[in-house]
Amino acid sequence: MKILVLGGSGFIGQAVVEVLAERGYEITIATRKPLNHPFAHKACVVKKIEFHRLRRVSDWPGYLSGFDVIVNCVGILRERWKETFESVYHEVPAALAKACSRLKKRFIHVTALGLTQQAQSRFILMKRLGEKAIEQIEGEICIVRPSLLDGKDGFGAGWLRRVAQWPIHFIPKCAVGKIAPMHVRDLGEAIAALCVCSVEALPTSIEFGGEKHYQMSQYLDVLRIKKAPPIKFSLPACIVRSCAHIFDLLHLTPLSWGHVELMRRDNLPRQEDTFALRLWIGRRPIEIDAQSIRPNTTHPYRND
Ligand SMILES: NC(=O)c1ccc[n+]([C@@H]2O[C@H](COP(=O)([O-])OP(=O)(O)OC[C@H]3O[C@@H](n4cnc5c(N)ncnc54)[C@H](OP(=O)(O)O)[C@@H]3O)[C@@H](O)[C@H]2O)c1
Repeated sequence: MKILVLGGSGFIGQAVVEVLAERGYEITIATRKPLNHPFAHKACVVKKIEFHRLRRVSDWPGYLSGFDVIVNCVGILRERWKETFESVYHEVPAALAKACSRLKKRFIHVTALGLTQQAQSRFILMKRLGEKAIEQIEGEICIVRPSLLDGKDGFGAGWLRRVAQWPIHFIPKCAVGKIAPMHVRDLGEAIAALCVCSVEALPTSIEFGGEKHYQMSQYLDVLRIKKAPPIKFSLPACIVRSCAHIFDLLHLTPLSWGHVELMRRDNLPRQEDTFALRLWIGRRPIEIDAQSIRPNTTHPYRND
């Protein structure tokens, strides 16, 4: 089976590629900068695809030829020139899904939990529009909505782990929503299973998350290695909002306006998918804690 992983150089994409390569599938990863990832995985071919430019269905067949499954793990935190939320999260995934449907290829589209219409963030609204467009298309298509991820190479994940060690935890007052953090390796295994399952078993959408639920403040405590408890400082919503907009302007830190919006509401898998992760990976999910990505961990995966 030949699988194209768009965004295969990213945090989620790498986890998907690693599992698929271990299982012996032929993988091509697509990235904007193939020269930066010549050794992304020795079992892979690396190819340049500028995703945001391929807005029409007719742009895709040449790129999809020869593949059985296409996995879309492309994501941007902030807009840059023509890489807009609208193109990356709405127009291009919709065109790609249509092309996959016409060519009878399986399409796995990775989005996120918590994409509500009430959000005031274009990041969220465009992701949601992308999902809505894809839902209208017939074919072997599955929308995957993961919860917040932990793992060694994640920009946001690494940042949260560092913040957790600070003597003071600045907690946005508006961060009242619960999250179900999960390990990126588990998501990689679940997506690999979705790539190769029977047509009958493929869900049209699925939500994955860990089995423990936390508010952001509790999650930072879970990630804290230091014994001394942090001082908790509650940040008013207006300050958090201003900081997020400044960070967005300057392209600083993973805290974007979209993420502030996400923290305001629960980001948990829907009721029927509470144990979906366990079901698709065939074991208990990795428990996220302060030690879970340190070298010599007892976890059965290569986290060092
Ligand atoms: N990380 C999380 O906790 C989390 C949780 C839930 C959902 N998600 C969602 O999952 C998706 C991927 O997240 P991630 O954490 O894996 O992001 P990431 O590490 O930043 O990876 C993004 C990937 O997208 C590729 N990419 C970005 N713009 C592109 C473009 N214009 N053309 C071609 N490739 C492009 C990047 O490739 P190059 O840079 O190599 O070109 C990279 O491989 C996003 O939609 C994100 O919102 C993430």
